[in-house]
Amino acid sequence: MAQVSKEAVLKALSSILWEGQDIVSKGMVLEVTFTKEPTGTKVHLIFKIEPKKEANFDALKRDSEEAVKKVEGVSSVDVIFTANKEAQPKHGRAHSGAAGPEKIELPNIAHIIVVASGKGGVGKSTTAVNLAAAFSQKGLKTGLLDADVYGPSIPRMMGLRDEPEENAEGQMEPLERDGIKVMSIGFMIREDQPMIWRGPMVHAALMQFLRQVAWGALDVLVVDLPPGTGDAQLTFAQSIPVAGAVIVSTPQDIALIDARKALAMFSKTDVPILGIIENMSYFECPHCGGRSEIFSHAGAKSEADKLNIPFLGEIPLDIVLRRRGDEGQPLTLSEPDNPITKAFQSIAARLWKHLNA
Ligand SMILES: Nc1ncnc2c1ncn2[C@@H]1O[C@H](COP(=O)(O)OP(=O)(O)O)[C@@H](O)[C@H]1O
Ligand SMILES: [Mg+2]
Repeated sequence: MAQVSKEAVLKALSSILWEGQDIVSKGMVLEVTFTKEPTGTKVHLIFKIEPKKEANFDALKRDSEEAVKKVEGVSSVDVIFTANKEAQPKHGRAHSGAAGPEKIELPNIAHIIVVASGKGGVGKSTTAVNLAAAFSQKGLKTGLLDADVYGPSIPRMMGLRDEPEENAEGQMEPLERDGIKVMSIGFMIREDQPMIWRGPMVHAALMQFLRQVAWGALDVLVVDLPPGTGDAQLTFAQSIPVAGAVIVSTPQDIALIDARKALAMFSKTDVPILGIIENMSYFECPHCGGRSEIFSHAGAKSEADKLNIPFLGEIPLDIVLRRRGDEGQPLTLSEPDNPITKAFQSIAARLWKHLNA
């Protein structure tokens, strides 16, 4: 079997152009390593890139793979992107999208709270938006980061559409709404270009969001995570100094099984669980005022008690809450007297007290 050399791989890659220059002389090829496969040599490549909305990383990956596959002895090629300039991910770890155990330092952000859930559609984004609003109303300097790579919904819920601009220092300026600084992966990705952001790319993009966004000084940054326990969760758990996680769950058992997985992941990675919020907890009939417990209410509370985790509160199923979200007018900002606003405010107050205890 032909021995594959690094030189041969670099030579093949030097035919690939990126922004008018070949990727090798541009310094984009951070690492070339090899592993053996039954059919030949597998080439692992790490490229350093600047995540940009308009850039076609799919094509870069495809062209690079094709070029290297033509080198004699190569059986397969694996390209990983990173925007992380200092710490080059090691193999194995890079595959999971997670970085090393050292966490980055973010001296300007006092507390990072991640909002997580086991599955989608439980009201995680709704919770993140309304909690951010409640923190801001307390007079706290608040940021809201939409890290849901699979379904970023913060731009819509916050009624924000513009693209963030780069400032003179080369940092991205977050958008702002009612004093809340907002950044979303949805501002950056084209809808037809989601794949490349998954996996290892997610890690790179999220790290950039924390380091290369001009958040300024923040008391609290609320992060809307994607559902489940994937790359984004690992990035936050392992590489970012998170103050704690808030788990959102509906009362349904099945959701709780998923929520338990999220809980297990955070506790394994030493991220404190700040508590569980039960969303779509019950339905209060707007006509008769009667209360219907559609999904056998209080599943989250009993689960929290069992696991010895704080139960932060319950949010009812409410048509106005949903409508306000769809309209980009978060309920907590637009309806100060609504009991649901009060519920979010009291959860935020409780979290803030806990964070500063
Ligand atoms: N308590 C609630 N009452 C009514 N609708 C809700 C409630 N919580 C969330 N929704 C609606 O359910 C849908 C999913 O909520 P979302 O916050 O996007 O969930 P996730 O981020 O977990 O996927 C949205 O249309 C949202 O407006
Ligand atoms: Mg969401």
